[in-house]
Amino acid sequence: MNFDKNLLQSIIKEFTIDTEELKEIAANFRQDLKLGLKDPKDSSLRMLKSYVGLPTGKEIGEYLALDFGGTNVRVSRINLQGAGKFEIIKRVAKPLILPGSYDYVGVGSKFEDMFNFLAELIGEAIEGENERQFYLGHTFSFPSSQTDIYDAKLITWTKEFATSGVEGEVVNDLLKDALIRRGIKNVEPVSVINDTVAVLLSAAYHRSDTFIGSIYATGQNNCYIESSIDDPKNVGIGGMILNLESGGFMKLTPNRFDKEFDEKSEKPGEQRLEKMVSGRYMGELFGMALSELLNEKGKHYGFSSIDISGILMDNSVAGNRIAAIVKDKIEKEIDSEDAKAIKELATAIVERSARIVTATYVGIIWQRAGSGEISHQHIAVDGSVYEKMPLVKENIDRALSELLEEEAAKVDTVLDTGGSGLGAAISAAMVANKE
Ligand code: BGC
Repeated sequence: MNFDKNLLQSIIKEFTIDTEELKEIAANFRQDLKLGLKDPKDSSLRMLKSYVGLPTGKEIGEYLALDFGGTNVRVSRINLQGAGKFEIIKRVAKPLILPGSYDYVGVGSKFEDMFNFLAELIGEAIEGENERQFYLGHTFSFPSSQTDIYDAKLITWTKEFATSGVEGEVVNDLLKDALIRRGIKNVEPVSVINDTVAVLLSAAYHRSDTFIGSIYATGQNNCYIESSIDDPKNVGIGGMILNLESGGFMKLTPNRFDKEFDEKSEKPGEQRLEKMVSGRYMGELFGMALSELLNEKGKHYGFSSIDISGILMDNSVAGNRIAAIVKDKIEKEIDSEDAKAIKELATAIVERSARIVTATYVGIIWQRAGSGEISHQHIAVDGSVYEKMPLVKENIDRALSELLEEEAAKVDTVLDTGGSGLGAAISAAMVANKE
């Protein structure tokens, strides 16, 4: 078939961010942080207070953790042993959509069914232990406005979730009602935290030099510990981590694919950064660009980020794996030259994603350092894109060097697998310790 080379190169250019633009994004992100600290209304970052700070490492005991926010829901019973040590006693996980069977997130889905499903999973995790009292920490990975660590109202769904009856509600109240409906009286939800906050808590449980938590998965978002919020009346347990909802950052230049996708999405105009970088969207952007190369503009092939990952993993000259992945979706045979072109396109999309995400990290690092020196630190990251997508880690490192130059040696990103669940348990323990 062989794609038009000029068209391919011009599309790749549209997905390319050079050093200058990268610096501009990081500086604009820092500026939005500054504005947001004064008044979130003046910033595209929501700067949501989580009413929790960093753990001491002395949090111990057994807690339930509900991790809700991506394609799978997980409930774990976690025994915290202090100083970073913990044991997962039981873990149950189920997808929120099982094609042909159920769908708790699509258009037409309702909150009762969604929360009944969560309560059912919690029931499985406690395995009929109906006497003993459990505190439950809830990682709820959507923008929520909080007045304390329990009271979190969903502001708006993201990641194309469309379940009715949840926006504007206190999510732990909905959960409590569902637990009662299921006859579970001994589980008490005591905290709600964003998944970025959970990752930061989990990392800080065993490392003291971690101040930024990030999710790089179906969605993308960052949080950090803001030391200037120290008003005793207004501070959370141990300080105040701010959930930036950085997926909503607006000071970026979307290309025509980004714009076209946004217009068709569940929430046009929202989550502009997330729609350019996260796992939920990279496959869609890739498919849109490919449809143009195939002269089939507008056709929807249904590529996912797992497909992109598979394409990038094929290092062979023949590109057989790429051909198989693509054939399955576009129903056409491609040769090795096309496979090479397809890999170039996937590379451009993934590199852009990693570079934008890194610029947001550096914006936070600059803001935290103020006019002082950048401190040695780790950025805790959890999520399938960070963990599994080829090219992501090396592009983060490269972008860190472009932005921080020799100071880049002070900063690295570390994988905090399972932080979303562990952090929920830690937050519940922080509530218990406070009581
Ligand atoms: C949500 C964030 C969340 C992120 C990662 C975004 O869509 O708005 O709250 O942290 O996804 O799960």
